[in-house]
Amino acid sequence: MKIAILGGTGNIGKGFALRWGQKHEIIIGSREVEKAEAVAAEYNEVLAGYGHKAGITGTDNQTAAEKADIIIVAIRYNQLGPVMEMIKPVIENKIIISVVVPMEKNMCYINTSGKHQIIPIQSKEFNTEYFCFSMPEAGSAAQEIQKMLPDNAELVAAFHTVPAKKLANLEMELDYDIGVCGNSMYSKEIVFGLVRDISNMRPLDIGPLETAAMIESLTPLLINVAARNEMKDVSLKFI
Ligand SMILES: NC(=O)c1ccc[n+]([C@@H]2O[C@H](COP(=O)([O-])OP(=O)(O)OC[C@H]3O[C@@H](n4cnc5c(N)ncnc54)[C@H](OP(=O)(O)O)[C@@H]3O)[C@@H](O)[C@H]2O)c1
Repeated sequence: MKIAILGGTGNIGKGFALRWGQKHEIIIGSREVEKAEAVAAEYNEVLAGYGHKAGITGTDNQTAAEKADIIIVAIRYNQLGPVMEMIKPVIENKIIISVVVPMEKNMCYINTSGKHQIIPIQSKEFNTEYFCFSMPEAGSAAQEIQKMLPDNAELVAAFHTVPAKKLANLEMELDYDIGVCGNSMYSKEIVFGLVRDISNMRPLDIGPLETAAMIESLTPLLINVAARNEMKDVSLKFI
C-alpha cells in the first residue's frame, strides 16, 4: 500500500515509517521538502541495517497526501488546521488515519453547565508535570478532523496509545492492543491489517468515530501513570 505520513519527520512518524517501510511504500510528508528527503534517507539507512531495502521517499505534506492511498495524520492537534486545509483537495476517496491526541500540560478539562473549560490544576500535590485530555468542541480530535475532510474521505482513529520511542525501536516486539474507531468497516479492516503488520500488535474495534474521545483520552493517562510510577513509555493491553 502507498502510505503518506504527514509530520513523518517527527517522533511517532519515525516509528510508523520504520515499521511499515519493511512492507509498504512510505512517503514522508513535511512542511519542508529537503527535511523530508533527508529524514527519508535516514530511515532507509536504519532499515538497511536490518537487511531491508526500503524505498521511503520524502516530499511536502500535500504531495505526499496526493500520491498515497492512506494518509496518517501525525501532527500535533494545535498545528493541524493549515495542513488539513492544504491536503483537502487531494484526499477525496482516501483513508485518513488520525493518531492525534489533544492534551494539555498541567491543565485540566472541566465541563461547567454544559460548557467546556480548560483550567490550571490548582492542587499543591501536583508538583510534577501532569497531562490532561483537552476535549475539543466536537468531542475528540478525530471528530474535529472529520469536519476538515471532503465528504468521501474515510477517517479512522487509531494508534493513540503507542509510545513513539518503542515504535521506532525495531528490536522491540510490541505486545499492545490498538483501539480503532471509525464509521466504515471497510476502512477499519484496512487499519486492522496495518496494526497486524507491526509485530505482536492486536487491533481492537472500539466503535464508531464518536467513541474516539475515550481512546484519545487514554494517552495522557498512560503518560501520567509512567511519570508517577517510575515506568517508561507504557502502552495498553486488554486481558
Ligand atoms: N509521540 C508519541 O509518543 C505519540 C503517541 C501517540 C500519538 N501521538 C500523536 O501523534 C502526533 C504527532 O506527535 P509527535 O510527538 O510525533 O509530534 P512532533 O514530533 O512534535 O511533530 C511531528 C511533526 O509535526 C510537524 N510540525 C511541527 N510544527 C508544525 C506546524 N506548526 N504545522 C505543521 N506541522 C508541524 C513537524 O514536521 P515538519 O517540520 O517536517 O513539517 C514534526 O516533525 C500528535 O498529534 C500526538 O498526539 C504521539
